Amino acid sequence: MTPALQNWATGVQRLVEEELALRLPAADASPARLHDAMRYAVLGGGKRVRPLLAFAAGELTSAPQVAVLQAACAVELIHAYSLVHDDLPMMDDDSLRRGKPTVHVEYDEATALLVGDALQSLAFEVLAAPQPQLDAARQRDMLSLLAHAAGSHGMAGGQAIDLASIGHMLTAPELEFMHIHKTGALIRAAVRLGAWCGTALDAEAERRLDHYAKCVGLAFQVVDDVLDAEAPTATLGKTAGKDAHDGKPTYVSVLGLPAAKELAEELRRDALDAVAPFGDMAKHLAELADYITHRSY
Ligand code: IPE
Ligand code: IPE
Ligand code: MG
Ligand code: MG
Ligand code: MG
Repeated sequence: MTPALQNWATGVQRLVEEELALRLPAADASPARLHDAMRYAVLGGGKRVRPLLAFAAGELTSAPQVAVLQAACAVELIHAYSLVHDDLPMMDDDSLRRGKPTVHVEYDEATALLVGDALQSLAFEVLAAPQPQLDAARQRDMLSLLAHAAGSHGMAGGQAIDLASIGHMLTAPELEFMHIHKTGALIRAAVRLGAWCGTALDAEAERRLDHYAKCVGLAFQVVDDVLDAEAPTATLGKTAGKDAHDGKPTYVSVLGLPAAKELAEELRRDALDAVAPFGDMAKHLAELADYITHRSY
C-alpha cells in the first residue's frame, strides 16, 4: 500500500473495527462461549478489503459515512462467517487464520458452525437496522443484493463448486466460474452496496463500476491462489501451500504461476480502465485495485 492509501485505509479500518465491536454481542453475554467465539472470529484481524472497497465506492456517490459503515460491516460479517466455515475440517481443514488458531481449533467444531450461522444472521440484522440516510426501498434492494451474493448463486455456490472440484483439473472457464462465485460475488456486492448508499449513478456509470468490481473480485482470488503457492505461512497468517497439498484446482495449478500473475495484472488494468472516467472520485478504488493485485498477504 502507498503511504497515502495506508493513511486512508487505517481510518476506515478503525471505524469498521469499532462498529463491529459495538454490533457484536458482548463476550460475557449468554451463551458466552458462542459470543466469545464470534468476537474471536471477527475482531482484531483481517485486511478489511471488502469494507475498504465499500467506502471507496461510496466516495463516487458522496454516500454518507454512517450508511456506508453499516453496509461495510454487514459484508465483513458475511465474509468472516465464510472464513470460519471454510476452515472447518469438512471443508478446507485449516488450523491457522489471520495468524491465530481457527475457530474450530480454538473452540470446537459445533461452536464454529454456530459462529458462522450467527454471523450471517447478524450481518442482515446490521444491514436492516433503521438508517435515516437511506430510503426504505434502497435499503430493501441492498438486503436483497447481499442475500443473493452470499447464497447458492454467489459465495455459498462457489464454495460448493470448490469442494466438488478437489482432485479434478478444471478448465480455465470452469475455474473462473468458481472464483467469481466463491470470492467475486461478495467483493462485487461490497462495491455496489457502498455506491448504493449515495446518490444514484446513471446506467453507464453503474456498469463501469460493476465491471471494476468483477475484475477486482476475480483478481483477488487469483492473487490468493498465487500467495498460497508463494508466500510463507508467517506472512500469510494461514498455512502456505495448502491448495497444492489438498489437490485444489487454482489459477496456479491450471495456468502456472507466471500466467496467473499476468492474469492478475490484466484484471488490474481492466479494473483501472473501467473507473478512469470517474477521475479523482475513484482515486481510492484505483489504488485498491493496485493493492489487491500487489499485496503480500
Ligand atoms: C480470504 O479473504 C478468503 C478469500 C476469499 C480469498 P481475505 O484475504 O480477505 O481474508 P482476511 O479477511 O484479510 O483475513
Ligand atoms: C475461500 O477461498 C473463499 C471463501 C471463504 C468464500 P480459499 O479457501 O482459497 O480461502 P483461504 O485461502 O482459505 O483464505
Ligand atoms: Mg476454501
Ligand atoms: Mg480455505
Ligand atoms: Mg486460498
